Amino acid sequence: MPLKIAVSGKGGVGKTTVVALLARMLARDGVKVLVVDADPSPSLAVAVGIPRKDRERMKPLSTMLDLIEERTGVKPGSGYGGMFKMNPEVGDLTESLSVEGPDKVEVLVLGTIQKGGNGCYCPESTLLRRVMDHLLLEEDEVVFMDMEAGLEHLGRGTARSVDAMLIVVEPGARSLETAASIKRLAEDLKIKKLVAVSNKIASPEESQVVSAKLREMGLEQLGEIPRNDNLVKADLEGVAVFDAKGIDDVKAAVSALKAKLVVR
Ligand SMILES: Nc1ncnc2c1ncn2[C@@H]1O[C@H](COP(=O)(O)OP(=O)(O)OP(=O)(O)O)[C@@H](O)[C@H]1O
Ligand SMILES: [Mg+2]
Repeated sequence: MPLKIAVSGKGGVGKTTVVALLARMLARDGVKVLVVDADPSPSLAVAVGIPRKDRERMKPLSTMLDLIEERTGVKPGSGYGGMFKMNPEVGDLTESLSVEGPDKVEVLVLGTIQKGGNGCYCPESTLLRRVMDHLLLEEDEVVFMDMEAGLEHLGRGTARSVDAMLIVVEPGARSLETAASIKRLAEDLKIKKLVAVSNKIASPEESQVVSAKLREMGLEQLGEIPRNDNLVKADLEGVAVFDAKGIDDVKAAVSALKAKLVVR
């Protein structure tokens, strides 16, 4: 069941937390899982539980200037208009750059596409998009993409290969506004299935307000994750989310989400 799930939402809503938990849980079910960190400040490796010594060699692909030059034929930053390969070879990169973590979850750090002027056809964005396309079209495993709200990594053609976009929201007007704009972008890109999960829910009132807003927006709510400050504690201590103590309620909620998201 190759399945490609993009996870997006406003900054700080819990995207990385949710991806890390879903990945570890699915891997424990015996599924081959790859998670892709496409965030400007990568934190997925810690959240999944990659040991520090392995994290040191996990530089974001967007910062590997020599590799970008090798594959595209152009040094990043050498100006617009240069001739570079629009279709660089990337098939080997997911294998060689990803690092295996606990439960055999593979983590790949992509980094962010710099937003240049006019749509930016710079070598690094070409390479990053190619890697994303490769992941979507050719990898035969479950892939979770921890993404920014702008969805810059998804090309128009390949976004259709995303099986589902999971939008994480928290109780708060801004996260719901961001969800609405992600929904518009995702619809533009013709992503098939758009679903939401509410996170950090601390009371029945919050649950009701967020559910009502999602319904109003026409976003199916696939689950609800309670607020649990042990997650913050684990985050502060650099403990992997799955290995955090005192988060059984969160795990139960994410497990229910997993069952709905990954129908086998
Ligand atoms: N259910 C929850 N209850 C309490 N705290 C939570 C919950 N989910 C996530 N958090 C905390 O919120 C903070 C942000 O979470 P996380 O890093 O997963 O969000 P994010 O959306 O990936 O953020 P960013 O946009 O910065 O990448 C972390 O400290 C995390 O531990
Ligand atoms: Mg994050």
